[in-house]
Amino acid sequence: MARTAISHAPRGAAGKPPLAPTAQVLDVARATWRDAFRRIRAETEKRAAPLSAEDQIVQSMADASPTKWHRAHVTWFFEQFLLVPNDPAYRIFDERFPFLFNSYYVAAGPRHARPQRGLITRPNGEDVAGYRAHVDAAVERLIEQVPVADAARVFAILEIGLHHEQQHQELLITDILHAFAQNPTDPVYDTKWQMPRATQGPRGFVDVPSGIHSIGHDGEGFCFDNETPRHDELIPQVRIARHLVSNAEWLAFIDAGGYATPSLWLSDGWAAAQAEGWDAPGYWRRQDGAWHTMTLAGLKPVDPGAPVTHISYYEADAFARFAGKHLPSEAEWEVAARAGVIADAFGIAWQWTRSAYLPYPGYRAAEGALGEYNGKFMVSQMVLRGSSLATPEGHARVSYRNFFYPPARWQFSGLRLAEFI
Ligand SMILES: [Fe+2]
Repeated sequence: MARTAISHAPRGAAGKPPLAPTAQVLDVARATWRDAFRRIRAETEKRAAPLSAEDQIVQSMADASPTKWHRAHVTWFFEQFLLVPNDPAYRIFDERFPFLFNSYYVAAGPRHARPQRGLITRPNGEDVAGYRAHVDAAVERLIEQVPVADAARVFAILEIGLHHEQQHQELLITDILHAFAQNPTDPVYDTKWQMPRATQGPRGFVDVPSGIHSIGHDGEGFCFDNETPRHDELIPQVRIARHLVSNAEWLAFIDAGGYATPSLWLSDGWAAAQAEGWDAPGYWRRQDGAWHTMTLAGLKPVDPGAPVTHISYYEADAFARFAGKHLPSEAEWEVAARAGVIADAFGIAWQWTRSAYLPYPGYRAAEGALGEYNGKFMVSQMVLRGSSLATPEGHARVSYRNFFYPPARWQFSGLRLAEFI
């Protein structure tokens, strides 16, 4: 979680943050946080706006959540962690909601089963809109009225809540795409949506600066606790691909029998591929003799020049073996990104690394329920770095550690390769 000062300006705010919580500084902080709160809450609604009430109820698999649930859950987060502990006058909007909209915070009380979120037709969308408005007004009141002595602590929780909401903004998009991909009519989320263009130019590998490097958050701006402590890592002599792996390269893997060659696969990966019948990335399907893929603009022909997305860790690992290469470690990725030697580090596809999601040396989760945010997931998952086309503006950073289970394919997940010298 963030350990932040009263003056810790949200990402995108200009200028050096002031240091002392004077009245004047507090006024600036209140205005800054209010604007950030409004902007980020509005982005959630903007992303939900193209979706009908029916769209917003559906849960297409246990890993995905309904849009309506996302909109309510991020609201519950502010109610539970910001308002209830810090505003004695705050009244819970609906006593039944914490059970429905708590995700995984055991310390915050019992909760509804995740795979059954799609069964909750009531509260309806209007009720959730009312919940959001109620909490929005209360949060804005708290921002305006929090006493100076409490401001730093309150704004730190607010800041986590905003970054949390941005994480769900990305999930809202990936979850509805998964739902639409189950629909034979190939629904369109946004007719104008286009895959971001990958950087052009010579492909190939570039040196990652070897030796001992510090990785992890450098202390400037917000970070989640899993990005700390900053620590040293030994980077071997390794080169990293300047570009993301493209659909054309993935088609070569398919055409060479990559999905039918067990020696390319981890044992668990081969088992998953067989059990799930994988023969191409998620959302790909052959139609009229050509590969198509489900996108936010509906079903489209696969663009050979675009980076591949919707692949699992298992597929990324098999592809790297097929190519005679490796996946970079997360430390190699971070050092390369900090050195500015890789293209499209951000904004198109999260990139699987070969690093297991583990605590950095000396990591300690925060006390209390918010300590459940990251630390308890540090087993059996793999780290992805960068960000994707669905990541909200201003949410990504070079030390950011995303993590998913190896079979997960519904995120905009891709890869870049590495080779040892
Ligand atoms: Fe959450």
